[in-house]
Amino acid sequence: MTSIVLYCRPGFEKECGAEIQEKASWNEVYGYLQLTKNEGIVFFHLNNPEDGEKIVGEIPLKRLIFARQWFVTLTDKIELPDYNRVEAISDALGAEWQYADLRMETPDTNDGKSLSKFCRKLAVPLRQALRKKKILAAKNDNEGAILHALFFSGSEVILGFSLGHNSSAHVMGIPRLKFPSKAPSRSTLKLDEAFLHFIPRDEWDERLTSGMNAVDLGAAPGGWTYQLVRRGMMVTSIDNGPMAESLMETGQVKHKMIDGFKYIPMKQNVYWLVCDMIEKPQRVAKLMADWLLHGYCKEAMFNLKLPMKGRYQQVTNDLQSMKDAFAHHNVKYELYAKHLYYDREEVTVHARLLSPLPTL
Ligand SMILES: C[S@@+](CC[C@H](N)C(=O)[O-])C[C@H]1O[C@@H](n2cnc3c(N)ncnc32)[C@H](O)[C@@H]1O
Repeated sequence: MTSIVLYCRPGFEKECGAEIQEKASWNEVYGYLQLTKNEGIVFFHLNNPEDGEKIVGEIPLKRLIFARQWFVTLTDKIELPDYNRVEAISDALGAEWQYADLRMETPDTNDGKSLSKFCRKLAVPLRQALRKKKILAAKNDNEGAILHALFFSGSEVILGFSLGHNSSAHVMGIPRLKFPSKAPSRSTLKLDEAFLHFIPRDEWDERLTSGMNAVDLGAAPGGWTYQLVRRGMMVTSIDNGPMAESLMETGQVKHKMIDGFKYIPMKQNVYWLVCDMIEKPQRVAKLMADWLLHGYCKEAMFNLKLPMKGRYQQVTNDLQSMKDAFAHHNVKYELYAKHLYYDREEVTVHARLLSPLPTL
């Protein structure tokens, strides 16, 4: 049987499954789901085995909100012997394809974490053996097909592949970011990951650079402002709560204690709008669309809170309301949402307009 295996945050398997099933059906691909709650892994078993390549070839991973990473299975679950696991894996692969890189993966659970040491150890002889047999290219490369080995225990693995240009560059789709000791809150990692995820590195010099003006709505104590300040931006931070002194001392931050829904910038010189206000997602989505359509900012990065139930439907509706607003004004736009690793009960959204501003 051929399946698509998707990695998501444990607890969000239902959303991840509903999403792949819906998007696959738009491409006339059908199958059924198998998931275990809180394992962070979803299997989409395909009715037609040939559809695996079609899915990872035609649906951009960045269009999926809840999937962090994915691959198409090459094997069912393989039972590995206690010795010579390397040989068992390379025998199962055959010599048909050459892969550009190998990812050793586990479920994102406590059991999975304790397996990762075993995976790191096994990776060394496995890489060597696969290179010798030319199953793995001599040098790692993110562009070709990527070989995935998903371990459920030391003796159970599923093998599969993804396409480098349409998969996450990070193992299991998880970037390991270091918490900056000077940042005033842990949520700083959310914006750090969001920039890394949504803005291509080779565009940082134009889109994420020093001297830009930024507005941070719901800024206190300043974890997101910190990310803007450290990139050399001048930030207006809006929140009734206090901002960290260390940020105020940089001279790059103006703190305004007002309602984020009422603030309007005086000049049209704001590049980034970021927003982490804990508020109804419908209200935030509307506010973000308004800022972009009025030209108050060029790009927006923000969180939408997820409800307890109907999470996929709710976030789809919120995004649709933004798409409708953009379509109403006949503007081209870019709008992507992702349940990032450092997100919990929210998704992160990036939006910008690609055509000239409408006259409102
Ligand atoms: C999750 S915290 C933000 C954390 C911040 N991004 C950080 O990294 O330190 C949410 C903040 O939104 C603020 N907030 C909620 N509603 C707001 C509103 N209508 N206007 C301004 N701030 C608001 C709260 O005061 C709170 O400080």
